[in-house]
Amino acid sequence: MRAARPALAFLAVLAFGPGAGAAETRPPPGASSCTGCHTEGAAMGRLEGRPEAEIVAALDAFRGGARPATLMNRIAKGFDEAESRAIAAWFAAQGSR
Ligand code: HEC
Repeated sequence: MRAARPALAFLAVLAFGPGAGAAETRPPPGASSCTGCHTEGAAMGRLEGRPEAEIVAALDAFRGGARPATLMNRIAKGFDEAESRAIAAWFAAQGSR
């Protein structure tokens, strides 16, 4: 069983990425699901380039029910605060292209 720990660490890196630096080059878990509805030409417009704080605040409000929603209340509940921040930071960073 000596190989078990390095193998688990490797899987963790695959699943969560090697660290904060990777968040800007690869979408965090969940982010790719957003662009199905939020993209150029779609009803909801794109999230790329939107300020991180704005996206985080919107997701918080949807999750807590403070902001009325048809879909986003349920979607936002699928992500905790850390995950929401990672998604928001990633979209915000995609604006400069
Ligand atoms: C199934 C389609 C769908 C998906 C997937 C989706 N959204 Fe939304 N989004 C909506 C709709 C519809 C609204 C308008 C509010 C409502 O009725 O739920 C919205 C609203 C928003 C808003 C507020 C828009 C604004 O202009 O202020 C934000 C921010 C947002 N979504 C972020 C996200 C993020 C981040 C994800 C991925 C985790 C995501 N959405 C995934 C459909 C979607």
